[in-house]
Amino acid sequence: MSFSIERYKEESKKVDVTGIAWDDVTKHPLSKGDLFCLHYMMDIENHVPLYLSHLLVTRACMDPILTAFLACWNYEELWHGENLGRLLNLYGIEFDTQERIANVRANLGFQNSVSIFSTMAGSWLLKDFSAVYLTIGAINELTTLTGYGALIRKSGHPVLKDLLSRIIKDERRHYAFYYNSAKEWLGGNERAQKVDRWMLDRFWVPVGKGVKKQEEVDALAIYLFDDEQGEKDLLDIDARIGKLPGLAGIKLMSGALYAARERVARNPRWGHRLIENEEWAIKAPRRSAVGELTTRRTAPSDDEEMEGTLAPSGRTTRE
Ligand SMILES: [Fe+2]
Ligand SMILES: [Fe+2]
Repeated sequence: MSFSIERYKEESKKVDVTGIAWDDVTKHPLSKGDLFCLHYMMDIENHVPLYLSHLLVTRACMDPILTAFLACWNYEELWHGENLGRLLNLYGIEFDTQERIANVRANLGFQNSVSIFSTMAGSWLLKDFSAVYLTIGAINELTTLTGYGALIRKSGHPVLKDLLSRIIKDERRHYAFYYNSAKEWLGGNERAQKVDRWMLDRFWVPVGKGVKKQEEVDALAIYLFDDEQGEKDLLDIDARIGKLPGLAGIKLMSGALYAARERVARNPRWGHRLIENEEWAIKAPRRSAVGELTTRRTAPSDDEEMEGTLAPSGRTTRE
């Protein structure tokens, strides 16, 4: 598995959706579990541009190769979210993408700022922070593409399969970058290996946790991976990450599934109630997040919607 940053910079582009049979989206049913996963995945893909705020303040981003990767990666992830949203809209689930993204961000709260600050401080205090970040990147990308594979299998929806298969190709490239970069950092660096292992064992959480609550993370894990094939998929992720220097035998993803199973054993409704109750997908925002969090406090009139025209505040409506 090789990766060339120069080639990636040249070839990076938004996922090509030419020829996807969008008109057939409603011809095949999606279960509540499929829809739950699609909302989760869309929200996390759409969270990437904000997640960048955690990364760009770290010591790791003094590396121009990393920032070049992030510039392209961020753009590709944006289009993953856009297309998952498009499929949901075509399936008949109505939401405004910008409104939904703003609502997800509004619910992050103060914890998000604390998290940015602690990541920044940690990275400057810890010389080997990059090893941890790169390893987490590898796990997240591998988990994402494995999750998309599991959703293809669970849903049996041909249009979704076509879209996710194209997205998976991007995720494989992302995984290759992170994995190779982590390997490079960890190779022959015992101190970094110790720091990496120690941090992962204590602070690692599955992709999406933080934006999503524990029960949502568990619901996704139970729906996608709580069968023989799913468990094997997660053990495979652990095995591949365990090949990184210093991480032999690490059990993260399978451990997350077993912990989710324990919570379900204690409360059989746990997770399942989120999937059964679709309100989560369409519930009204706690507050008008777009207005509060952006400069677009009022909906522009038709005149103001023209490119570059002046809003009453004197600010151009689209800058
Ligand atoms: Fe993605
Ligand atoms: Fe990715």
